[in-house]
Amino acid sequence: MSLLNDIEPLKQAALADLKAAPDLAALEQAKGNWIGAHGKFTALIKQLGTLSKEEKPAAGKAINAAKTELEAALAERRSELERAAALPKEPADFSAPGRCRALGKLHPLTQVTEDIVRSFRKIGFVVADGPEIEDEYHCFDALNTPADHPARDTQDTFYLANSAPDASPSPGGAGQCPSPAGAGEGGAIAPGEGRGVATQFCGEGGRESLLLRTHTSSVQIRVMEQMKKAGKEPPIRIIVPGRVYRRDNADATHNPTFQQIEGLYVDKNVTVGDLKGTVEFVFKELLGEETKIRFRPHYFSYTEPSFEIDFSNALVKKLGKDWLEIAGCGMVHPQVFENVGYDPEIWTGWAFGFGIERIAMIRYGINDIRLFYENDVRFLKQF
Ligand code: DAH
Repeated sequence: MSLLNDIEPLKQAALADLKAAPDLAALEQAKGNWIGAHGKFTALIKQLGTLSKEEKPAAGKAINAAKTELEAALAERRSELERAAALPKEPADFSAPGRCRALGKLHPLTQVTEDIVRSFRKIGFVVADGPEIEDEYHCFDALNTPADHPARDTQDTFYLANSAPDASPSPGGAGQCPSPAGAGEGGAIAPGEGRGVATQFCGEGGRESLLLRTHTSSVQIRVMEQMKKAGKEPPIRIIVPGRVYRRDNADATHNPTFQQIEGLYVDKNVTVGDLKGTVEFVFKELLGEETKIRFRPHYFSYTEPSFEIDFSNALVKKLGKDWLEIAGCGMVHPQVFENVGYDPEIWTGWAFGFGIERIAMIRYGINDIRLFYENDVRFLKQF
């Protein structure tokens, strides 16, 4: 009967050992010592075979009950130790202030663009959009910019490989025509208008070389073509904010990519006075009520007459200057109207274009254009 008597003390010793294990490794060790293949409790089980027929049932039952108890104790201690291991080592400080999630903000260029768009919306302009991958026709030819113009030099912009005029058109029939959705809003001139008409933009330009647009002026052509195709007559009042590209080396005032905003107004009897009044309104909204503007004669191939716009205000004075050049503009050239199928005897219009970085730099006193593109949060969080 000694085996039966041994069960209880051995079980108690094993239970004490398992419950006292200080960590998971010690627990595994204790498990091996007692109920592993060579464990002391396992040895007891092996002795069952030596008992008589009468003794066996009672001893077997007692051993099984004890083993179940030991296994339960092992599982309980294991989960206790696992839970403890998952808890932080240091005590929690419930009075510590909560962790704040850093909120992002709009990029300063986006903020300035939105301000400009808001001003133009007040006077009836809508935002239009066009592709950043453009063909030579829309970027230059249609804007009355001749093939020998320096802006068309391969050094001046980025041409896309395999898009030379002799490259064969794709089987889809659209040739090399870029999608008008390239820059986002699908080339629309107003919500719901002109979407999903990728091939119509191709025109004669469909097999021209493709390039990254050097200015947003190409969208003037696309919008007028689109209106014409849709059988809609002017007025057209659009602004086109967007990214443009030049083969410039980056320095404090140049970057190979930057943002422009283009404007186009077409109607009957449009005058330079309308242009001046509009520009004055927007710049006063943008740069302060005391802002003055002046027009200087200039040359652009898509406008006649053409002007450069200078402005003056306290910020300009702070830079030690009287005037700062800010934009190009003029009355839409009759040839441009001819190119999109508008009769220049009936329709008149003006257009302008300016760089958004320049405005943001003046407004915020930023002296290096590259800061806008480095995405350093220490810079960005100031705006
Ligand atoms: N496209 C010109 C540029 O990138 C800016 C410009 C000048 C746009 C005169 C116009 C304009 O619409 O009429 O420098």
